Amino acid sequence: MPDTDLLSLQIDHMGILQSRYEQVLEDHGYDGLLISSGAAPMRYGDDQSWHFQGYGPFLHWTGLAGFEHAWLLIRKGRKPLLSLYQPVDFWHASLELAQEPWLEEFELRFSESRSAPELSGVSQLAVIGDPSMLADLPGDENPGALRAALDETRVHKTAYEIACLAHANKLAMAGHHAARDAFLAGASEFEINLAYQRATQQREADAPYHSIIGVNEHAGTLHYQYYDTTPPTKSRSLLIDAGVRYRGYCSDITRTTAGVGEGRFAALVQGLEQLQFRLCKMVAPGVDYVDIHRKTHLGIAALLSATGLVSGLSDEEMVAEGVTRAFFPHGIGHFLGVQVHDVAGKPVPSPADAPFLRLMRTLEPGMVVTIEPGLYFIPSLLEPLLSGPLERHINRPLLDELQGCGGIRIEDNVVVTDSGCRNLTRESEG
Ligand code: GLY
Ligand code: MN
Ligand code: MN
Repeated sequence: MPDTDLLSLQIDHMGILQSRYEQVLEDHGYDGLLISSGAAPMRYGDDQSWHFQGYGPFLHWTGLAGFEHAWLLIRKGRKPLLSLYQPVDFWHASLELAQEPWLEEFELRFSESRSAPELSGVSQLAVIGDPSMLADLPGDENPGALRAALDETRVHKTAYEIACLAHANKLAMAGHHAARDAFLAGASEFEINLAYQRATQQREADAPYHSIIGVNEHAGTLHYQYYDTTPPTKSRSLLIDAGVRYRGYCSDITRTTAGVGEGRFAALVQGLEQLQFRLCKMVAPGVDYVDIHRKTHLGIAALLSATGLVSGLSDEEMVAEGVTRAFFPHGIGHFLGVQVHDVAGKPVPSPADAPFLRLMRTLEPGMVVTIEPGLYFIPSLLEPLLSGPLERHINRPLLDELQGCGGIRIEDNVVVTDSGCRNLTRESEG
């Protein structure tokens, strides 16, 4: 069982959620909210289902990511009703529910039926969740304004949520260390993945997202999704982006390691890490997150100059001409919580100079964000540079040498505090 501090923080968390939800329901004219945990859909034309991970608002209350056909009813001034589906089934096991104090805060029921519980004492009901679960239910289904307001209740993390995110970081860092060691011993991507799973004691399907494990040029595919079973002839680089889910909460961490004898690539990794440290330190209340993204581009430009990859252009020119975008095409990060890309980050569309940025907000205490600069050698993005007028500024021999290392990303999970920030990943590094 987790320590008593965490369990008592969880009780506080429930109280905070109850008052946040009651306020949202009142603001939107409801006196009851029914949340479906969801259920794994079947694969088309098959009798097999996809692996299940529950709906965000259900996790926000319960942290239970694996419970299908469960329901949660929130009402003003009443204990939330939690109904868990527990059929008599000789094909499948039922998930064990640890007997922990937070369950006392719920009216808990076990049901052999997949149906929603009886909705007593509610006159204005909203129901939220996967629409395929909500057919034939009374109430307003997934009202947009209500859902947006509920998403907003997830933006400022409670002390309990931050403690869970911190622990998810600690668990994941053990996996990252094991993965690095396996890489340095010459392992294949597949074996590195096994080392990560063994160290984290987590099945990959239960992780917040599929681990991205790219050795050598595979490190240059941003969301590389395969595992090569053949060990590389030469282990030049490893990019691993992998997390852990703990009590519903996700870590999302990336580390890049240079292979033995890869001095120039190692220097670039070190340079990007120095930049990443500076960007993490920018996280503080009142800071516009888009500014951190823009500073990243200037930092990447400085690094391209310092390493001699690009010459004859100022940092500002490199950004304006799209040179940095070719090397760093994604956003600097996103909110993190019970979903790896947590909700409510985009009240406004992404700006033209940051089309893939997932967070456009001014930072406030309690927000948890990732800071994940990258620098990649992606042929399809570099080709227009190399065939255009800027070609003379690019150090092609160096680029050719580094291309086989794929790329670099370094990603930490950072909490905005009252006076600055707390880096959950670095404090877990040991
Ligand atoms: N692991 C996906 C991301 O970093 O956003
Ligand atoms: Mn990541
Ligand atoms: Mn991320």
